[in-house]
Amino acid sequence: MSTILIIDDEKAIRKTLSEILTFEGYTINEAADGEEGLKLFKEKTYDVVLCDIKMPKIDGLEFLLKATEHNADVPVIMISGHGNIETAVEAVKKGAYDFIQKPPDLNRLLITIRNAKDKNNLVSETKSLKRRVARVQEMIGDSPQLRKIKETIEKVAPTDARIMITGDNGVGKELVARWVHEKSNRSEGPLVEVNCAAIPSELIESELFGHEKGSFTSAIKQRIGKFEQAHGGTLFLDEIGDMSLSAQAKVLRALQEGKITRVGADKDINVDVRVIAATNKDLMQEVEQKKFRLDLYHRLSVILMHVPSLNERINDIPLLVDQFLKDICSDYGIPKKTISDQSIQQLQNYNWTGNIRELRNVVERLVILSGKSITKDDVASYVIPK
Ligand SMILES: Nc1ncnc2c1ncn2[C@@H]1O[C@H](COP(=O)(O)OP(=O)(O)OP(=O)(O)O)[C@@H](O)[C@H]1O
Ligand SMILES: [Mg+2]
Repeated sequence: MSTILIIDDEKAIRKTLSEILTFEGYTINEAADGEEGLKLFKEKTYDVVLCDIKMPKIDGLEFLLKATEHNADVPVIMISGHGNIETAVEAVKKGAYDFIQKPPDLNRLLITIRNAKDKNNLVSETKSLKRRVARVQEMIGDSPQLRKIKETIEKVAPTDARIMITGDNGVGKELVARWVHEKSNRSEGPLVEVNCAAIPSELIESELFGHEKGSFTSAIKQRIGKFEQAHGGTLFLDEIGDMSLSAQAKVLRALQEGKITRVGADKDINVDVRVIAATNKDLMQEVEQKKFRLDLYHRLSVILMHVPSLNERINDIPLLVDQFLKDICSDYGIPKKTISDQSIQQLQNYNWTGNIRELRNVVERLVILSGKSITKDDVASYVIPK
């Protein structure tokens, strides 16, 4: 059932609207002026508000501004008399959903309300969908090493400091980057990821900075680069050690000046982007071999975060295995399998060169090949020691 708030100082209008809309199945609350309307508006979330323009105390326009400040998602439909259509138009420009004229035409009134309600539902649906999709996978583990990583995330996330995340394959560098964004003041903004190793070196500049139509042979359309896409949010430069030297020079300029230029363009564009980089290479060694610029290295590594490999934190294995069993069994639509303590101990004795990614694959293999309960024999036969 939808609830509508009617704000009008003319009792007759309130009464007519209220009767019609109650008949249509809406629940109605009434207010005789903007001040009372605002008070009711703040008490609960209405589906739609109908609001007169000329009223004592707080008028319609002022109500609209204060109401949208409080909750911009509730559609407000203005009711305008003959004399104030211009004000009604102005109200729409300032965020009112629409306006209807007095005396209200019944059909138009009902259609406008229905549309406003639908739009509102759509908006909140999209929002909760975004929230659900955006949820980042939990970081499982209770080892001192992992706890330290989590503490560092809490500390550095709300700052705008650049972060360099290092660590072996599959240790969770990308996950750390996502949590930093999620816990930062930019979490409502975009998180844009670029895998520098996956992009051919002749395309990386256009990928990062965009290009104008016709700037090179295959540039058929204008393209917005990742830096611009990340404006107001975070840019995650993954595998930064694989970036070409010429791209490094341009990234350096973007970081120094907060400006980028699209390939083939002559004007600069200001960008507000927090950069997080990650690599599994030893960048200092790359610097010595002249494959990575030292100045860029210093710009990027204001905060250094090293994610330890799984072999250094085998105490995390029991919790990780438990979580992966839960996730994988639920993906396969089967009841969660159990695993013996001995099997877990065996897993703790392996050499995890592929780290957490490898552990997850091993658990998946065990789920597929073992019975309801995973035994140490299963581990011995299906997990090949290295
Ligand atoms: N602490 C953790 N808890 C649960 N899952 C984790 C954890 N750390 C990593 N993972 C999972 O392990 C996999 C590998 O992690 P991720 O991709 O972040 O690693 P990476 O360090 O970026 O690897 P690469 O160097 O290969 O790019 C992902 O599926 C990730 O969700
Ligand atoms: Mg990665």
